[in-house]
Amino acid sequence: MKPSEAAAECGGDPWKECAEVAVQLARRAGQIISKALTEEKRVFTKTSAADLVTETDHFVENLIISALKEKFPSHRFIAEESTAAGSKCILSDSPTWIIDPVDGTCNFVHRFPTVTVSIGFAVNQELEFGVVYHCNEERLYTGRRGQGAFCNDKRLQVSKVTDISKALILTEIGPKRDPETLKLFLSNMERLLKSQAHGVRVIGSATLALCHLASGAADAYYQFGLHCWDLAAATVIIREAGGVVMDTSGGPLDLMSCRVIAAGTKEMAMFIDQEIQTIHYRRDDEN
Ligand code: IPD
Repeated sequence: MKPSEAAAECGGDPWKECAEVAVQLARRAGQIISKALTEEKRVFTKTSAADLVTETDHFVENLIISALKEKFPSHRFIAEESTAAGSKCILSDSPTWIIDPVDGTCNFVHRFPTVTVSIGFAVNQELEFGVVYHCNEERLYTGRRGQGAFCNDKRLQVSKVTDISKALILTEIGPKRDPETLKLFLSNMERLLKSQAHGVRVIGSATLALCHLASGAADAYYQFGLHCWDLAAATVIIREAGGVVMDTSGGPLDLMSCRVIAAGTKEMAMFIDQEIQTIHYRRDDEN
């Protein structure tokens, strides 16, 4: 759909209605997740013993997608559990929703209260808006292209730190646990700590970590092994908060590449890019 057609449908503001529906659904899903957090769960594994899924992940994903399909029947979907079940992960020019129903599933399983719902939206392969809802703290992060980024009503602004020796860095482990991956993961952390970073944190939710970066509560984020549904919504939020989101090669972000560096400043992103070693993961669109 052309933006002009969508604009006509939405009173001059293309994708406005979509963004509003995304917020409503993220809040609804967040209530379900918060309630389920303290209840007994059936836990299953996916690509590794550390890659977990629960009935709540499936329930919430179905709820979000069926509500969106009813409202926007021509739109397409990329979502974590549908992809795990065999759906192709292909970003076309069509309006596409990119969904992680429960980000931080391992936290959720352990009742560790750092869990989000993440809903991104792209048109012509360009990210238009993102919504990340931190369920347990009722914090709604939103970003719309050209319209800023917010946490609830507060405008977000990234940090301006350029010097690693003044930086707090965030990362996540990703699902692989083979010796080579672990060695590289730890060695990347060690390199940044040896560069005198104030600290490196792993909180168990890539989307929330990226939103902390957008808030200026951390100075950089890097990861190998995250997916397009971990990245899509938060990327808009970070960019709209003034930050940089790029590929670990130093080039432009490739949403399907399963790797990212994000930072408040280009200098910080480039420093991390030079320090860390690549951990290989298959691309999302190869699965
Ligand atoms: C995962 C979490 C985890 C990160 C993974 C993500 P999930 O998402 O954000 O912290 O290491 O790369 O895929 O499986 O909880 O939705």
